[in-house]
Amino acid sequence: MNRREFARLLAVGGVVPFVTPEIARARAAAEKLPPTPVSPDETFWMSVRDQFVMPKELTILNAANLCPSSGPVLDTLYQTTRDMDQDPSQENRAKLGAGRENTRKLLAEFLRVTPEEIVITRNTSESNNLVSTGVDLKPGDEVLLTADNHPSNHTAWQEKAKRFGFTVRDILVPNPHPGAEYYVDAFTKAITPKTKLISITHLTSTVGDIFPAKEICRLARERGILTLVDGAQSFGLFDVDLSDMQPDFYSGSAHKWPCGPKENGVLYINKNAQSKIYASIFSAYPGRVGVSRTFEGFGQRDEPAMIAFGEALKLQTQIGRAHIERRSRELTTALIEGLRKVDGVKIWTSPEASRRAAVLSFQPGSLDVRKLSASLYKTDRIGCATRGGQDRPGIRFSPHFYNTHADVDKAIAAMKKYMATGV
Ligand SMILES: Cc1ncc(COP(=O)(O)O)c(C=O)c1O
Repeated sequence: MNRREFARLLAVGGVVPFVTPEIARARAAAEKLPPTPVSPDETFWMSVRDQFVMPKELTILNAANLCPSSGPVLDTLYQTTRDMDQDPSQENRAKLGAGRENTRKLLAEFLRVTPEEIVITRNTSESNNLVSTGVDLKPGDEVLLTADNHPSNHTAWQEKAKRFGFTVRDILVPNPHPGAEYYVDAFTKAITPKTKLISITHLTSTVGDIFPAKEICRLARERGILTLVDGAQSFGLFDVDLSDMQPDFYSGSAHKWPCGPKENGVLYINKNAQSKIYASIFSAYPGRVGVSRTFEGFGQRDEPAMIAFGEALKLQTQIGRAHIERRSRELTTALIEGLRKVDGVKIWTSPEASRRAAVLSFQPGSLDVRKLSASLYKTDRIGCATRGGQDRPGIRFSPHFYNTHADVDKAIAAMKKYMATGV
């Protein structure tokens, strides 16, 4: 059946028009998703996989970079955009503002904080930079960072230090992960009366180290020091509870682990920190509650995408966030166990389950990682990320709840093949 025939069939059945048959199929699969069993089996996770439009033979192990959006997200994005473009009057668009506020409410529930503390941004990069530009730091003040951050949380602080005159100091990040206590101790020793802010990455994108965010936030709070936790790799993967972690600022992106639309993100600003940060952008159309009234006036937004972001959060909540975290960790452990048996592979990610989650990096002997990743994609239909340079170079696999054990087996078999025969 071609696309037009399929569209006609759905229209005859009185179903709302759709963008493509794949999205209609994925949306229908989402409606049929069974309640998550106490111990979800492979069949359950295959039905989760059905909600995505990726072709069956494609194995994407790159959640740390960008995740696919599910059928419900794509369908909402399309239907809401179509509605807006069919009637772009202000009267018709008025309802979109309520949809955006609903996403704020869902985000607050998701992170266990209040809507008054949520700013819907474009991505983690923007959220991190709103913090490093907005906090009032001056010569004599110091920011402490872990050495292994994304540029939006590292280069950004270094550049702003040049402009505002404060200093930046790194806490070294040994490999393999030395344990949570090492970092609590390192920060405790590094803090001086000059320290005004600590910024860490919750889960690193490089080798997947977990940092003890709650403990570091606590020791900072006890000393009146602000904290920024970069949650790009934890938001939508962990069952993050900010009411427990209590950072001053937390950032995340919709397009990563939450499987939401592109160019949507979150900045959490703790109510206790709202008087300690200036907004950087002033324009029309801010949010309606709390800090979003001053921090979210970014001018015209893609409100259909913001509404679709809410659908992504609903799907994760429906499946169960603890289940999602457990599943992603289980697949990572299976990958580590398989890769450990492949001669010549050096795994950078911690062998300790409590120090890692679902980001796994390894060096495939002396193989050229760019060539290897190209072959994995072209020949084996496996998508992954590469890391060049001298610092823990190699391949990164980051599986998520749409992956299966068949994907894991396929990736291990492919690595065995290339390590034995070269690329
Ligand atoms: C730890 C970390 N922070 C920030 C970012 C930036 O995310 P985005 O490109 O969505 O702004 C990334 C992206 O990979 C990341 O891994």
